[in-house]
Amino acid sequence: MVCDSHGNGDCAKAETVPSPKRTDETVVSLQKNGSMDYNAAITGCGLYSPSRVLDNHDLEKLIDTNDAWIRSRTGIRERHIAGPDETTSSMATIAARRALQDAELDPRDLDLVICTTTTPDYLLPATACLIQSRLGATNAGAFDINAACVGFIYGLTTACQFIRAGGAKRVLVVAGETLSRFVNWEDRSTCILFGDGAAAVVVEATTQSAGVLSTVLGSRGDVEGSLLIEAGGSAMPATAETVAANAHTVRMRGNEIFKLAVRAMAQSARDALSKAELSIRDIRAVIAHQANQRILTAAQEALGISAEQMFVNIERFGNTGAASVPIALTEYIQSNEIDVGENLLLVAFGGGLTWGAVVLRWADIAAVKLERESMLRPTRQYLKTG
Ligand code: UT7
Repeated sequence: MVCDSHGNGDCAKAETVPSPKRTDETVVSLQKNGSMDYNAAITGCGLYSPSRVLDNHDLEKLIDTNDAWIRSRTGIRERHIAGPDETTSSMATIAARRALQDAELDPRDLDLVICTTTTPDYLLPATACLIQSRLGATNAGAFDINAACVGFIYGLTTACQFIRAGGAKRVLVVAGETLSRFVNWEDRSTCILFGDGAAAVVVEATTQSAGVLSTVLGSRGDVEGSLLIEAGGSAMPATAETVAANAHTVRMRGNEIFKLAVRAMAQSARDALSKAELSIRDIRAVIAHQANQRILTAAQEALGISAEQMFVNIERFGNTGAASVPIALTEYIQSNEIDVGENLLLVAFGGGLTWGAVVLRWADIAAVKLERESMLRPTRQYLKTG
């Protein structure tokens, strides 16, 4: 599936390179013309990582494993684990507040809150509703997306579609996972991999030819058994037996996923680039799902990019599921000066199986904020009512 409200495969036309200094004329054109095509640009980001760190040596005390095996087979040195009072929604709310602060956006100005998680607080209500309420995003709709580790790519695509279709102007996409509560701590093939955390971005309408340039989503439900939490849903409701059998925890056929992951990431990255009419040489950095250092290296080689272009933080976080790509994106943005017009490629794979990629062109964020002001002026009712 391709993000495109016009059906031609592109979210924003890549060949029209944005002028870095679009400010006043953008605002004026918006005021003159109430309806126009919008693109979707990221204007703020934030992450939250729980303070408790579980390193490989701590795991050596729990299961039959060792630091050398984990490092050489996965690249992971440590992962963060949620505290007893923390949940997916509590971590995601902190990340979301940070993203809103970064974007200088009042939560009441959000139109939509999209939460992407495989480890929600509850089956019902949606975790997005809990976050919406804690943020005070009183004018926003809220829903969850479950696309496992590709959740953020699906969420960003959905936000882009809402913005391009005119259904929303300011969307919060927040990903959070408390995977530590869903792993079997006696299964050394899975428990070493996963960590907890959250990250969020604010996505806003802009008339700049920037933001999300193209997206690609894919799935193969026929291999769902390769990564599964079997019990707790309608197929296998919770019973004493399901709990005793550890059927509420992650089961994975790691080798199977490994092979599919490299192929799916490389292909979806190429497809997203081709839809944006760009080549990998036009990409400043690739922000990929942090599942395994060896998968990242294989994808890097398949795409023909340098190690510097492939952003990696798996060593410190492990696999944080849907939060992995936005945590990496936030760290990358916070530690690098990205120029207006530079391109980033986001790519992921995960349970389902699912995969996807997004090409992003960095927008002139100051200009997007000016556009925001002109859009909000007529609708800011709450300023009058308090
Ligand atoms: O977000 C998407 C979710 N999942 C993934 O991305 C997972 C993708 N797959 C992987 O990352 C890798 O397949 C794993 C890291 C899970 C496993 O690495 P591997 O190189 O595929 O190892 P393996 O499963 O083939 O196991 C090799 C050996 C086995 O021993 P024998 O049978 O050769 O004697 C395992 O029992 O390593 C053993 N092993 C371990 N040894 C020490 C498995 N886990 C551990 C461990 N510590 N934690």
